[in-house]
Amino acid sequence: MRKIPLIIDTDPGIDDAVAISFAMFHPKVDLKLITTVAGNVSVDKTTENALKLVEFFGSDVPVARGCQEPLLKPLEDSSEIHGESGMDGFDFGTPTRKVIPEHAVEALRKTLLESKEPVTLMPIAALTNIALLFKLYPETKSKVKEIVLMGGSLSRGNTTTAAEFNIFTDPEAAAILFESGVKITMIGLDVTSRAVLMQKEVEQIKTMNRAGEMFAALFSHYRGGSMKTGLKMHDVCALAAIVEPELFDFADTFVEIETGKGPANGATVADLKMKYHRETNSTVALDVHVEKFREWFLEMLEQTK
Ligand code: BDR
Ligand code: CA
Repeated sequence: MRKIPLIIDTDPGIDDAVAISFAMFHPKVDLKLITTVAGNVSVDKTTENALKLVEFFGSDVPVARGCQEPLLKPLEDSSEIHGESGMDGFDFGTPTRKVIPEHAVEALRKTLLESKEPVTLMPIAALTNIALLFKLYPETKSKVKEIVLMGGSLSRGNTTTAAEFNIFTDPEAAAILFESGVKITMIGLDVTSRAVLMQKEVEQIKTMNRAGEMFAALFSHYRGGSMKTGLKMHDVCALAAIVEPELFDFADTFVEIETGKGPANGATVADLKMKYHRETNSTVALDVHVEKFREWFLEMLEQTK
């Protein structure tokens, strides 16, 4: 089987941890690189967390440390959702694995330019690293097959009324991506908030295997939803959209990123009726088939060892 060459740009993050774990073991995926960025917690912590996951699974995927701040805004983290460490709830110990010496932007450039086939980028955090990559090395754009990101929203946000966390963290970076001409698929918060696991699944997950045990421990500290209303599996939706797109409904449209300083800062404004634009610049997820998503999740966990 021909595998999908993939790079994950991430800020683990409890839901990031699930996405990374599944990508490492997915039979259709060739995970080439993990790059980290400041977001849910500082880049020191997100990098350490990525290394913890790689070590937990005995994987040899390289991890490169990325930007410690958004392009223009100061970082406002999300430790109230993911805990002080960013992955509270499970004792991974201190990882012995180290990051590769290159900065994430340099590692992205190298991996893209050296790849024979175009690579899929899966950002599940603020878009700072990728924006810098496109500005510093625009020649890399042609080596990107597509960007499938978790971020934005077609309705309300979770950080402000208008903005979702990943886009709110670095709206200028998001604007650079959406204006880059590279094919983008946006899996927004309005959709990922419906991709929830209920207590029943969490109980099942706990006893399935060691990855499930680790997830259940993290979930007991995760504040992205609750056991009663469902735990929101935002970031793994980006992976699901790459490997199992039929789990979602999509539309092609134009998305504009609001970078003004007012209350709409970081909003992803979609012109779904294409009233103001003639050409589309992205594909957006409109809905997720929740029961099928849950089945997919459990199947993925079974092969994550
Ligand atoms: C996004 O924000 C982060 O806290 C999560 O990891 C996810 O990427 C959801 O808004
Ligand atoms: Ca994330």
